[in-house]
Amino acid sequence: MVRSSQLSGFHKLTSQQRLASLAALAQLTPDEQAIVRGSPGLQVHAAEHMIENVVGLYSLPLGIATNFLVNGQDVLVPMVIEEPSVVAGASLAARLARAGGGFVTSSGAAEMIGQLQVLELGDLDEARAALLRHKDELLAAANRVDPTLVGLGGGARDVEVRLIHESSAGPMLVMHLIVDTRDAMGANAVNSAVEALAPLVERLTGGRVLLRILSNLADRRLARAECRVPASSLTVVSDGSSFEGHQVVDRIVEGCALAGADPYRAATHNKGIMNGVDAVVMATGNDWRAVEAGAHAYAARHGRYASLSEWHKTPEGELAGRLEMPMPVGVVGGATRVHPLPRVALKLLGVQTARQLAEIIVAVGLAQNLAALRALATEGIQRGHMRLHARQVAMAAGASGDQIDQVAAQLVRERAIRLERAQEIVRNIK
Ligand code: MEV
Repeated sequence: MVRSSQLSGFHKLTSQQRLASLAALAQLTPDEQAIVRGSPGLQVHAAEHMIENVVGLYSLPLGIATNFLVNGQDVLVPMVIEEPSVVAGASLAARLARAGGGFVTSSGAAEMIGQLQVLELGDLDEARAALLRHKDELLAAANRVDPTLVGLGGGARDVEVRLIHESSAGPMLVMHLIVDTRDAMGANAVNSAVEALAPLVERLTGGRVLLRILSNLADRRLARAECRVPASSLTVVSDGSSFEGHQVVDRIVEGCALAGADPYRAATHNKGIMNGVDAVVMATGNDWRAVEAGAHAYAARHGRYASLSEWHKTPEGELAGRLEMPMPVGVVGGATRVHPLPRVALKLLGVQTARQLAEIIVAVGLAQNLAALRALATEGIQRGHMRLHARQVAMAAGASGDQIDQVAAQLVRERAIRLERAQEIVRNIK
């Protein structure tokens, strides 16, 4: 656990200075520091055990989002992402949320769903009744597949049956096996269990089992985050325009309303949430496609694709936000076995359980959403993007050290973010 995640001036340090400060805060060993620097990062020989036909490696930036306070604990958030403004946005929004007490999170059990598709049934209702009558037998058979999971307190918990009366392949039954996968994401445990159950399900129903696979709509593994931001913290002053805090509250609530009513906006709104979510999911070696699939399916659970988060104004005039979404992530298994970085990322986060990790990830998603809405509802996002883009152009023009900010600031002032102009400014400084 770090003492504080409020690292003032962190963004102004060199990456080496940042790492030194991080190492001191999170007690990183020299080996762990080297892993964060990417050396020794993932090695080709280890990558050979992850996927097929390996020819090399692909790196991405790892940044640290600051200011996070989650359930009263300071948290440093490792984020792996290629997009500018995301780490800065999360850190800024976490600072705003901190002014209202930080993020409050909660989550349910780590229950995943495995599906068995049963075809060629004469009587769907009779097949359902047979499965439910033999629920205990099915659960016991599933639990024989993974005694280790059962020893850890997890395992098969329930059987549910859904009937699909009409499909392009005719009527069918779907059996759901609910498995508590504890600190693992659980895809392997669930897939092994449903595959093992297929012969028994065929015997009990007289049907033919076809697909046996985990569902990524992990709606029994939800995590939630909430925050409140005092209006006074939301004042935005940018050159040319300024917005009072109470106006920003109203404008964010109005902006969020579009995501509740319109799938075209909801997709972008949720993409902003996933900017934060995926970056931590990646840093911790989890399956971001699984998290993405679950998030978007959950966003459409009422029959229409909508916003995953809600923002409203409290009677006291504060801005209050809430995000709930499936968060099937683990702290054991998966890429954590082979890639060295996820272990250090988990240490930085100070989490021991999948549940703690899931809750922090949702808090980061909510923060990211706040950062995007605050920018969109006031000065727009291009200004911030321009500043970062200008830094990249300044570096490409040969600026180094303090010159980078100096050149970038001039490019933004002149609203001319062009390489030739940057080269001219660098020449004049030199
Ligand atoms: C860009 O990656 C994300 C945003 O479009 C999110 C949003 O519009 O809410 C800024």
